[in-house]
Amino acid sequence: MKKVNGGKKKGVFILFEGPDRSGKTTQAKLLCDFLKKSGFKVLMTREPGGTDVGEKIREILLDPSNKIFPLTELLLYEASRAQHVFEKIKPAIDKGYIVICDRFTIATMAYQGYGRKIELKLVKDLNDIATLGLKPDIIVGFKISDEEYEKRNRGDNDRIEQEDEDFRRRVNMGYSKIFSKTRDIVLIDASKPIHKISEYIGKVVLKKVKCLLNL
Ligand code: TMP
Repeated sequence: MKKVNGGKKKGVFILFEGPDRSGKTTQAKLLCDFLKKSGFKVLMTREPGGTDVGEKIREILLDPSNKIFPLTELLLYEASRAQHVFEKIKPAIDKGYIVICDRFTIATMAYQGYGRKIELKLVKDLNDIATLGLKPDIIVGFKISDEEYEKRNRGDNDRIEQEDEDFRRRVNMGYSKIFSKTRDIVLIDASKPIHKISEYIGKVVLKKVKCLLNL
């Protein structure tokens, strides 16, 4: 299968990953503003979603009234991803954008692999198919403790957040395992103050971006 990461580097693909309520969406937006102010063309996007079709799939996936089987759920996340990569992420990177994506393939390993207990090899294979092998250049990973997670409960939980405590623990454990094996990951302790986290991410990511783009 043709790899999309080969050839000359034009843009940069940055991924934000971590369990629910870890503050990664807020931080992804702050990084987006910071990089724009630093003069870069930036596209902020998310999964599931990011395209018209993907946002419709997102509604199905997160609606608590839908009963969805684990394999169906996995395929829907991958369907949203395939559309996203082809329609939005890959074209933007080819045009020289910095693409910041709120969740991607690691989330599927953590939630559908570790959380739903679907064979990890199957999840990985489907991730590879849906992305055509596109991999993030920079990964920012968030860790959140059980106490902090409980403190941040706003009560408006989506279908995945309504899963039981065991599911959540498996997802968190999955993230920890994946993060510990991910080289060069920018690891964030979600309990730190928002401005301290954003300052740190801005500094570290800007350095990596400049290095990747030979600036
Ligand atoms: P969000 O709240 O970060 O927008 O993500 C929506 C939910 O979807 C969140 O609970 C995590 C879950 N999710 C998966 O289960 N598998 C995936 O592949 C992705 C991208 C998200």
